[in-house]
Amino acid sequence: MNQAIKEVLYSEEDIKKRVAEMGIRITKDYMDRDLMVIGILKGSVIFLSDLIRVINLPILMDFMSVSSYGTHSATTGEVRILKDLDFSVEGRDVLIVEDIVDTGTTLNYLMDSLSRRGANSVEIAAFLDKKEARTCDVKIRYVGYEVPNDFIVGYGLDYSESYRNLPYVASLKEEIYK
Ligand code: IMP
Ligand code: MG
Repeated sequence: MNQAIKEVLYSEEDIKKRVAEMGIRITKDYMDRDLMVIGILKGSVIFLSDLIRVINLPILMDFMSVSSYGTHSATTGEVRILKDLDFSVEGRDVLIVEDIVDTGTTLNYLMDSLSRRGANSVEIAAFLDKKEARTCDVKIRYVGYEVPNDFIVGYGLDYSESYRNLPYVASLKEEIYK
């Protein structure tokens, strides 16, 4: 195993089962609706590519790239759009797909922004939820797992752009990021 890894939290097999359960729920909930799945680059791409294959409905897939300003203690929640959507959300049932919710700043901004652009509904599917770190109140409809307030990598999540391709989810040793 990688030297930087403290603990493997979820194995490839765990993840596969959990994502399949999420897909079943989403399929039920979005039957006969106009589902648009929006992946937040880059962290969500692994989760999104697995999730959409267990959603048994037609979907429109799009991506956005955002970066949040300032520190984690900032509560103003200023978010900058680096890459906007290719398609309009107007009248569509939007499902934002995110790797992890930490402070909630990013998703708080995105929910608001996409609602104001005329989406019919906006919900969130987050693979991981770091609840303890939350500073903004966001309602997450679909959650894979709750994780401790550590630095998490793998399955799309990075530390300085590394570890995204680990097939499992793990916490990083503290000496790596502190
Ligand atoms: P938030 O706006 O504070 O909720 O930040 C969410 C974003 O921060 C996620 O999309 C991740 O890109 C990044 N992030 C937060 N916590 C972690 C972590 O533990 N590992 C990797 N990325 C993280
Ligand atoms: Mg990210």
